[in-house]
Order: sequence, then C-alpha cells, then structure tokens
Amino acid sequence: MTTETTTTDERSHAPSMMAAPVATGLGTSSAPGAAVGAETGAGGGHSAIEVDIDRAVDPAHRPRIVGLRCRSCFRPETVSPSFVCPACFGPLEVVYDREAIRAQVSRAAIEAREPGIWRYLELLPIDEVPARSLAVGSTPLLRADRLGAELGLAAGNLRLKDDTRNPTLSFKDRVVAIAAARAQAFGFETLACASTGNLAGATAAAAAALGMRAVVFVPADLEPAKIDHALSYGATVVPVKGTYDDINRLSLEIADEEGWAFVNVNIRPFYSEGSKTLAFEVAEQLGWRLPDVVVAPIASGSLFTKVARGFEDLVAADLVEDKLVRFVGAQADGCSPVAQAFASGADEIHPVRTPDTIVRSLAIGSPADGRYALALARRTGGSIEAVPDEATAAAIRRLGRTEGVFAETAGGVTLAGLEGAIRRGVIGPDDEVVALITGNGMKTPDAKWFGVPERTGLDGGGLAPAINPSYAEFSRAGIAG
Ligand SMILES: Cc1ncc(COP(=O)(O)O)c(C=O)c1O
Ligand SMILES: [Zn+2]
Repeated sequence: MTTETTTTDERSHAPSMMAAPVATGLGTSSAPGAAVGAETGAGGGHSAIEVDIDRAVDPAHRPRIVGLRCRSCFRPETVSPSFVCPACFGPLEVVYDREAIRAQVSRAAIEAREPGIWRYLELLPIDEVPARSLAVGSTPLLRADRLGAELGLAAGNLRLKDDTRNPTLSFKDRVVAIAAARAQAFGFETLACASTGNLAGATAAAAAALGMRAVVFVPADLEPAKIDHALSYGATVVPVKGTYDDINRLSLEIADEEGWAFVNVNIRPFYSEGSKTLAFEVAEQLGWRLPDVVVAPIASGSLFTKVARGFEDLVAADLVEDKLVRFVGAQADGCSPVAQAFASGADEIHPVRTPDTIVRSLAIGSPADGRYALALARRTGGSIEAVPDEATAAAIRRLGRTEGVFAETAGGVTLAGLEGAIRRGVIGPDDEVVALITGNGMKTPDAKWFGVPERTGLDGGGLAPAINPSYAEFSRAGIAG
C-alpha cells in the first residue's frame, strides 16, 4: 500500500487551471480536516493513498467526494471545473473517501431504487440525484448463446451489455449525464464537447433536457446521420476541417476563452466517472459478482479504464468480492495507437496523425488515457486487439444475425476484438465474458456493408429484388423454402 499525506491547506492554495463561472457552494469540497482514502493508479491495483483522514467524524456523515487529484504526481485540487495539474500537467481525477462510501451504501439500498445510473449515487461524483436528466442506464445484459457458440465459447459464457438502448443510442449518455449535472452545478450555461460523433448527440440531448445551450464540435467529414442526430436536439453543430485531435486542441482554447463547459475537456474528471456505471450495472446484473473478462472498445481509453475502476470501487465498498478481471480492448486497425504499443511491447503510445478507418467513433489518434489502458490490459493478462474494417463490418452483421442486436462500428470492433482474443488464446471457452456494445447501428447504417461488393444474399439473408404483389411472382423470386 502506498501512503501519502497531504494537508487541506495545500489543496486550498492550489490554483485552478480553468476559470469557473461559479465554483462555490457545492458542498463537495473537502471539509476542514477531512480525509481521503483513495486508490492509486489507473483502473487497477487496490493500493491506497491516505490523506489526513479525520477519524473523529463518523464515516456515515462524512462527505463522499473529497476533491480532485493529479493522476501523475497526486497533488490535490479542490472540486472545480479543472482537469489538468498545475504542477505537472497530468490529468486530474475525482478522489473519494472510500470509508465514507462503504458506510453509506449497500446492495439493498441500490436494489430498492429506480432503474438508471443514479441508483449508484454514492459511487458517483454527484452530491444528489439531479432534479432533471434523461433516463440513462440500466440497459440489458443479454445472454448471447448463439453468438457465443459461433465463437467457441461455452453456453452461458458470453453476455452483451446492450448500451445501444440509451436515450441517444450510445453509452455516451452515461458520461454526459454526470458531466452535465456537474456543469450546471458549477454555473455553466453552455454545454459543449469535442466529439468523434456519438458524444455530440449525447451532449445535445442532455443540454436540451437541462435547458442549457449546446455547441458541439465534430470532424467535418463525420457520418451525416450523426450530425443530423445532434441537430435534432437543437444544438449548434460546428463541423471542423480536421481530426478529432485538432478539435480537442481547439476546444481547450474555446473553453478557456468562452467559459463553456466542454464535457470531455474541462469537465473531464467528472465526465469520465460516468463510465463506471457500466461496471456497476454489469456486476449487479450478474448477481453482485464480477466476470472473468471484459471486452471493450478504446478511443481515448477512458471507458476502458473506468470500467476497471468501477469494479475496484465496488470491491472497496464491500459490494462484490475481489477478483482479477482480464481487460481486452479493441481498436480499428486504421487508428490503433494503443493496440500497436501493446503488440510491440512499448510503454509509450505513438500518436496516429491521420486516422483511416470506417470506425469514426473510435478515431482518436492521440488517446488521453492510452497509457493507462495499455497498462490495464497488461496488468490483468488481457490484450488490445487491432481490427481491420472488413472484420468490423462482418462482426456487425454476425451480431445482428445471431442475437438481434444492431451495433454501431464500435460494437463491431469490440466483437471482432473478442474473436481475435479467442483466436490467440487470451480468452478460453470456459471464460465468462462480458462484451460492451456501446453504440447503436442506426447511427452508422452503411458500415455493415464495408468490403461487401454485393448487398444481396448475405449471411443467409439479404435484399430480395422488388416483386409485384402476386404469389406467382413471389414463387419465381426463389425466396420460399
Ligand atoms: C460508441 C462508442 N464506444 C466507445 C467509445 C470509446 O470511448 P473512450 O473515448 O472513452 O475510449 C466511443 C467514443 O467516442 C464511442 O462513441
Ligand atoms: Zn501533477
């Protein structure tokens, strides 16, 4: 166990990198003399940093959220819309008092609540359930025996977390719900994001539900369905002629100049915590236990690492038994900086300058959490798979045909990554596997046809020629039987 002591004085003198319109009265900054029991590392290990815990205060009444902290040098910061360490420029994360959480949460209390992500309030960086939000989370965990059998997994061993069913059809509703609630509490009026596509729709819809203005920045050559989706919620959509990484850089500047809440930039420490709800739901749906393997897509690497963190938080809160879960990540071949580092044994991630893939939702060439994602896969005995676009398209079709679930390209990458990990022996037939299907195929309807020259007669189905409404013509078309 690592131990480090930091005083609250140091914390209160630390300058914030971002000017917040309102950064007081949140009730979540550290109480005088309050303390933190928090884990180190990214999504792994159960070592802890102890920061001046005031044991005199009953944990049942201590604030759960104590502050922010640098993930690199562990310097503490107050709860505010800041995201980068003023000392070393490392990313900030939320720090909880785990003893307080343990005293304040139980399986029974969670089970008695309404469906949705707010069931797990005590494990989230939010003080109370927001008065308004979309109905996010509590998506089904489906047994996928037909698909599992095709992939060589034993019956009952493959489950799909079907996050195609969130309000804007992707898991991004989870992260945005947390970020939007925090942004509103901080006093921001404009909710913005730098998006690879799905985040734009999620941000636009959440802003609409909260009565905030939405401005979303997307690559100018994004799939039209995704641009149109964000427009449907009344957002201002700004196409940017550049890559996601260009947009991300621009967003940093705009956030600073305009005082806007960019969910995945200046609100990122809170935003990223939303992905933990996938882990909470999976564990609860398995009967409060953890699977052997999780397979998930990687863009920035936030989702991947935060699912691991979610499992750790459940263990720390005494809600599930500890267990080593292997993490298998998946990226598209044409933008696979983390998979390349995994394959070569490198510790550094080399950015991909020009992503070239149909998997637009994962096209981040310089992933903010890439290093942590790489370490997580290695530490747990998992892997990071690189998937050619043809395999992604085939996996989308296979999932639809075997299980009745239509996935966006990120889901295709995930399932093709699962196939790769099985082929290479990272996953065996007796492993209990949960694959995270994070986006809906209606967002990328054409992707399934990539690499397929002829759209008829595919995989046993396919588009028949148009016929007149006569039985004779139907018979001639050769569809029957
Ligand atoms: C559908 C979908 N799945 C997964 C991801 C990966 O998210 P992260 O950036 O947290 O790795 C994204 C990112 O945009 C996405 O749109
Ligand atoms: Zn630092």
